[in-house]
Amino acid sequence: MSDATMATPPSVVEAGALEHGDLLAHDAVPAALISMRDIWKTYQMGSEELHALRGVSFDVQRGEYMAIIGPSGSGKSTLMNLIGCLDTPSQGRYWINGKLVSAMDDDELARIRNKEIGFVFQTFNLLARATALHNVELPLIYAGISSADRHERARQSLASVELTDRMTHRPNELSGGQRQRVAIARALVNHPSLLLADEPTGALDSHTSVEIMNLFEKLHSDGNTIIVVTHEPDIAARAHRVISIRDGQIERDERIK
Ligand SMILES: Nc1ncnc2c1ncn2[C@@H]1O[C@H](COP(=O)(O)OP(=O)(O)OP(=O)(O)O)[C@@H](O)[C@H]1O
Ligand SMILES: [Mg+2]
Repeated sequence: MSDATMATPPSVVEAGALEHGDLLAHDAVPAALISMRDIWKTYQMGSEELHALRGVSFDVQRGEYMAIIGPSGSGKSTLMNLIGCLDTPSQGRYWINGKLVSAMDDDELARIRNKEIGFVFQTFNLLARATALHNVELPLIYAGISSADRHERARQSLASVELTDRMTHRPNELSGGQRQRVAIARALVNHPSLLLADEPTGALDSHTSVEIMNLFEKLHSDGNTIIVVTHEPDIAARAHRVISIRDGQIERDERIK
């Protein structure tokens, strides 16, 4: 099943056995930002095995803007959690930035997550009692950045989503679209390799959704790599590539722009 040669991204020159977490030799680093090979996620439910993902393989290049669509329960969030290093696959191999993350332990995953990934969730996930500025500073606290630096970087990140005039507001003093922009500023403050958004407009009205999607487009043209999970065809159509998932497998993978 898991033939090591088959499981290696095509762009990788075989450079001897790869240990988990190893950075590949310079000339062997996968060209792709993300390489997934034959990824399975299986949940044990009593005596039954539930396969949320069944052999998913794809690459994402730096600078891509990709949407993941599919019916409820098809495995989109499961896949997103794996891409974002919030979870580990039951089987298969996954590289991010040339590092084999599929076999990393929780501490290594947390480090990769903090350095490489920015997350945006449907329900914003902001700290209710903290100001916009403090919410955006949080990932920098975890990264051990000094307080003066943190402050300046959080201000810049909020400015990039046009919230300079709302920095001292708490989430309940902001509109839905503004809350999501704070969450996007927080996701970007560490300059991650990858911005992941699971249903980012799911809790927003259609006008505000368009505003957030315009922001994603700007972030993409600034050079960010973006992956968005969505139910909505309009939102998917804003991306440049669409992967359709059904029953834990990739049904289609289309470039649309
Ligand atoms: N922790 C878990 N334990 C057991 N089964 C799970 C778990 N998480 C997800 N599943 C199952 O895995 C499948 C995929 O779930 P997932 O959340 O990835 O779907 P989704 O495509 O994101 O759906 P939605 O569009 O409704 O958000 C579903 O059948 C779900 O019931
Ligand atoms: Mg989901």
